[in-house]
Amino acid sequence: MQDELNQAFRLDGRVAVVTGAASGIGREAARVFALAGARVVLGDVNEAGLAESVAAVQAVGGEASARRTDVTQRAEVDALAEAAVRAMGRLDVWVNSAGAVTYGAVLETAEPELDRLTNVNLKGTYWGCAAAARAMQAQGAGSIINVSSTGADSAGAGLSVYAMTKAAVNTLTRTCAKEFGSFGVRVNAVAPGWIDTPMANTRFRDSDGEIDPELRERGLRDRAQASPLGLTGVPRDVALAMLYLASDAGRFVTGQVLRPNGGASMP
Ligand SMILES: NC(=O)c1ccc[n+]([C@@H]2O[C@H](COP(=O)([O-])OP(=O)(O)OC[C@H]3O[C@@H](n4cnc5c(N)ncnc54)[C@H](O)[C@@H]3O)[C@@H](O)[C@H]2O)c1
Repeated sequence: MQDELNQAFRLDGRVAVVTGAASGIGREAARVFALAGARVVLGDVNEAGLAESVAAVQAVGGEASARRTDVTQRAEVDALAEAAVRAMGRLDVWVNSAGAVTYGAVLETAEPELDRLTNVNLKGTYWGCAAAARAMQAQGAGSIINVSSTGADSAGAGLSVYAMTKAAVNTLTRTCAKEFGSFGVRVNAVAPGWIDTPMANTRFRDSDGEIDPELRERGLRDRAQASPLGLTGVPRDVALAMLYLASDAGRFVTGQVLRPNGGASMP
């Protein structure tokens, strides 16, 4: 019985690509997938961070390779998928975790900032879905996981661009689930609440760019209050939700947005 349960969540023999894998949620997803038996291929613009993530995977006995990839460039995303298939022989799981955030009122947002976020969060996810599905179509199976946000569920002053891109990721997820289902590819999103990563801590930086411990403590308290559980999240909370969607345990699940957010939003 225990073996049967373990098996449902294992990824032995499978290959997973993770974008945004140099940090935070993407790094932990790579580590958890490796713990479940997958070989992982990591993409990000941050090469030093990628090297640390490869080391983190190897530290748990996993096999990882990395490739510098800017997800805003379609050719680079395609090349990441092709390199994974060439090196590993197959592609079973693809996570679009590369992302960026910006804060600012609608009346003050400058066009380059809007373009930057749209390019990373939306276009990057779009090309990721396309490249993954192309590779998975030949196999007749696969699982694509997009990273949305609780921010897509509720209006937050100052978060217009970020929330807009993440709401679009939810819609893209459902469209891809419809288009790719006929050839066995599932497409889902995770929409985390506040998760303790470098991105989430940008709000707690002082004017020198250092994290202000008092600001952070207050910020964490406020965010925990948004959860009925009184909790904030860590990357592992999201990575384990991704494992469910990536593995056979999630075989009947597609077109869904799973919210590891401590109950911070319940649409
Ligand atoms: N941390 C949170 O509270 C939270 C909540 C909801 C959703 N998210 C989403 O989770 C995802 C991961 O965020 P995180 O919190 O781990 O942040 P993070 O900053 O730790 O990681 C994001 C990674 O994306 C990479 N990246 C940025 N632009 C890129 C590009 N053009 N091409 C390739 N890689 C690029 C960065 O280099 C970085 O390694 C993002 O999509 C984010 O929007 C985070």
